[in-house]
Amino acid sequence: MLNTNILKSEQPIGVFDSGIGGLTVAKAIHQQLPQESIIYFGDTAHSPWGSQSSTAIQHYATRISETLLEQKCKAIVIACNTASAAAFAAIQHVVQDHALLFNVIDPVITHMASKHQNKIIGLIGTKQTIKSSAYQDRLSQQTNSIDLRSLATPLLVPLIEEGFCDERPIHDIIKHYMSNPCFKDISALILGCTHYPLIKNQIVAFFQNKVEVVDSAQLIANVLEQELEVRNLRNKSITSKMTFYVSHDSEFFNHTAQQFFPGEIKLETYPLWD
Ligand code: DGL
Repeated sequence: MLNTNILKSEQPIGVFDSGIGGLTVAKAIHQQLPQESIIYFGDTAHSPWGSQSSTAIQHYATRISETLLEQKCKAIVIACNTASAAAFAAIQHVVQDHALLFNVIDPVITHMASKHQNKIIGLIGTKQTIKSSAYQDRLSQQTNSIDLRSLATPLLVPLIEEGFCDERPIHDIIKHYMSNPCFKDISALILGCTHYPLIKNQIVAFFQNKVEVVDSAQLIANVLEQELEVRNLRNKSITSKMTFYVSHDSEFFNHTAQQFFPGEIKLETYPLWD
């Protein structure tokens, strides 16, 4: 059982991902909870994680979680579907009752179960996320009347990490993946990777606005707010601080982070793997 007595409202919230994808989550949290300090960790030394072994992902994610605990985070948000799917139990084991822990899959499942009963829905994600069947398993715990169709879309993250979000190749690849017959007649598509909100407009356009395209960013920000509120852990002070760590210098991470948080970026290289 979590002992929230040891946690204090002024402590920061830790958010991590393999790279820039989790910035979509950090941005939603910052907008929803502007008084909270956030420490973001992007594992640019190992990105992308999605096609690596679950053992490797568990190793990266647990080490980063330890670092965020060392930085006295009161909550840790795994802003990565791949780590939420492949490493959640390992991270839980490390975090124990030292901080609140959130994954990005559960809030999406709750949303889908309440909005898309008796429908066909789609899911795209990394190879690890799809292989893990984490979405299907969690959905089955809530309902049996949603038909989930899953597709691994491994080419998307490398292109997004390289800044190709609106270039011709990514449009062609989106078209290729979304035309898969498994997505015929879907009422909603889950963006099961926190990088994909960066190409959400292109995906919405492909489905001509007829499909609800769902990502976890706002949903997880809502859940985080509720949980902090219930535990009296909302920061009431007006001085919040944003800190961004990367495990390897990345010009594109810097550029993207500046776009997400104009004027608020203090990017540091954290020598986690040296
Ligand atoms: N953004 C992550 C996810 O949600 C990681 C993608 C990757 O590094 O392959 O799955």
